[in-house]
Amino acid sequence: MHFLIFLGSVRDSTPPRPARLGMRVSRACETLFKNQYSQHTVEIIDPLNYDFDDVFKPEFAYHRAKVPAHLRELADKIKSADGYVMVSPEYNHSMSPALANMLNHFGSSLFSYKPSAIVTYSAGQWGGVRAAVSMRTFLSELGCLPVSAMIHIPKAQEVFDEQGVVADELQQTQWDSYMNRTIHQLIWWSEGASQQRERLDPTSLAEVFKKDPSQRNAP
Ligand SMILES: Cc1cc2nc3c(=O)[nH]c(=O)nc-3n(C[C@H](O)[C@H](O)[C@H](O)COP(=O)(O)O)c2cc1C
Repeated sequence: MHFLIFLGSVRDSTPPRPARLGMRVSRACETLFKNQYSQHTVEIIDPLNYDFDDVFKPEFAYHRAKVPAHLRELADKIKSADGYVMVSPEYNHSMSPALANMLNHFGSSLFSYKPSAIVTYSAGQWGGVRAAVSMRTFLSELGCLPVSAMIHIPKAQEVFDEQGVVADELQQTQWDSYMNRTIHQLIWWSEGASQQRERLDPTSLAEVFKKDPSQRNAP
């Protein structure tokens, strides 16, 4: 299976210190996969590597021959992945606008029928739980249903160093075990969904919503 880890922060400055906790958390997820699930592959998707214009024009709004290369590249990655790890800080008790903006650039057909895992963090003591609740609605609408277990990391700046390694090595096993509960679910659902997509093309049952929102209307 191949997984994308979406890094939900573009805050590359201080204060508060340190800059961009999301990189530590994303690297911690990446390291967990590499150390414990080496049969699977992961890639961190960093929004700072993509030019999301000030004027919002999603990938699906372009004429197919004119999709900008960076949007096409990311769309292809989303389409070929088997599941997603959504890493978000909590901003004003909500998921990060950077993550929402990045995901909003792509249609749900690219994410659909594949699972996601919610990972939230904060510099304070709540670990982003309030953001996590609303992420369920967002990700469900996107078609990549979130697994039931979630990862919340309070005081992430104390938990992980810049490389995403647990700062207090005595706590490494506890963090691995906590995070594994969610990652196990993600991998289980990804493998199940992959087999079922092979067996039965979901778009043969319900047409992909492409043109008119009325396609979804009740009679
Ligand atoms: C605009 C803004 C709003 C924030 N709101 C919250 C919040 O609601 N709850 C919380 O625990 N931390 C909040 N914080 C603090 C973040 O947890 C902290 O800045 C963290 O480093 C953000 O992650 P990032 O560095 O990866 O962007 C907020 C920070 C910013 C910049």
